[in-house]
Amino acid sequence: MGLVNWIELNQLGDERGELVAIESLRDLPFEVKRIYYIYNTEGGGSRGFHAHKALEQLAICVSGSCEMYLDDGVNKAKVRLDSPSKGILIGNLVWRELHNFSDDCVLLVLASEYYDENDYIRDYKEFLREVQK
Ligand code: TYD
Repeated sequence: MGLVNWIELNQLGDERGELVAIESLRDLPFEVKRIYYIYNTEGGGSRGFHAHKALEQLAICVSGSCEMYLDDGVNKAKVRLDSPSKGILIGNLVWRELHNFSDDCVLLVLASEYYDENDYIRDYKEFLREVQK
């Protein structure tokens, strides 16, 4: 798997509006155990600045926009999330930072595991040591 992996989500909209459905293990490669969303980001600044040992996530900007910086220890990429029908898959051992949230940004995240602080790597040097193992 490369560093930047977009998943195009099926838009099931009609004249009444758009609808996107995401099914665990069908539309994304893992079973979803947790869902969280980030909103009210006005003036909130950047977030993230960590990697995960095992967690995989699919992030979808369902409203507004933000930028995500991804780094697997070798490759680095900056992507813009601004579509509710397009998710970015973030594998394990990928350093991520979130920047430039629009005021109306709602970032929905589907995660493969329950919240576990022990799965976080919050120190960039430790992250590099981990990917070089
Ligand atoms: P944090 O991981 O720092 O957010 P970000 O990586 O987007 O900057 O999370 C902020 C707080 O919320 C922190 O106290 C941990 C808590 N939290 C949970 O309890 N469950 C979760 O699923 C997430 C993502 C965070």
